[in-house]
Amino acid sequence: MIIKNQKELEILREGGKRLAAVLQEVAHHAIAGVSARELDDLAEKLILKAGGAPSFKGYKVRGAPMPYPGSLCVSINDEVVHGLPTDRVLKAGDVVGLDIGMQWEGLFTDTALTLVTQTEFRSTSDLNSVWGRSNKLIEATKKSLEIGIAQVRAGARVGDIGYAIQQFLEKEGFGVVRELVGHGVGSAVHEDPEIPNFGKKGVGAELVEGMVIALEPMATDGSPKVKIAPDGWIWVTSDGSRAAHFEHTVVVTKNRAEVLTKW
Ligand code: MF3
Ligand code: CO
Ligand code: CO
Repeated sequence: MIIKNQKELEILREGGKRLAAVLQEVAHHAIAGVSARELDDLAEKLILKAGGAPSFKGYKVRGAPMPYPGSLCVSINDEVVHGLPTDRVLKAGDVVGLDIGMQWEGLFTDTALTLVTQTEFRSTSDLNSVWGRSNKLIEATKKSLEIGIAQVRAGARVGDIGYAIQQFLEKEGFGVVRELVGHGVGSAVHEDPEIPNFGKKGVGAELVEGMVIALEPMATDGSPKVKIAPDGWIWVTSDGSRAAHFEHTVVVTKNRAEVLTKW
């Protein structure tokens, strides 16, 4: 059901809070020298400790050769989303997207963030270096999620969200990914409606009080085009540019969004 009742919303609030704490803890461990697999193992351990179940593990998407093998997606540099938790080790300066989903008392929340792996001090005046561009990309993508969230209220249209996100990211000089979109969430990993990160004001499905949706802008520091890597899971930019991704699960209320996954 697309509209959640008060009891379901209470469960989603608690699940979202616990999931956000897990992602925050995992992000603190995303430093140079750590492998994607180690982060995935930590994510799974923390989800179970929180009393939840990893919702990505075993998830199937059309066209992928196998169910998703991990509890966390770790997407590095030109990888946009669905990065597999391999033995690849994070290096200083890598752009690392961490996306996580949890089932808590039968209901699902989903959240993601992107960071630059740190080790050494870098000057903030070095803004045109790869490091500086990566930070700008990440800051802009994070801001675009906030801008999208600010559009959410009962009676608004899905297109209002996409329009606001797209306008901002393109003005900042970044590419907006079209092949992947936000979505309804709560009763399953993915539900209707789709929430694109591009669009036109006043167009698309109407947001209704009690809907639970995941907003998740994905931006590139180059062409917006993406493709699936040969492993059948990882989405990468077609021109090799770096990408960032942020995501929150929110409830549509009368006048605003209630963010369930605040980290
Ligand atoms: N978290 C992704 C999303 O935001 C879905 C990941 S499915 C997985 O919609 F199987 F790749 F984990
Ligand atoms: Co996600
Ligand atoms: Co999502």
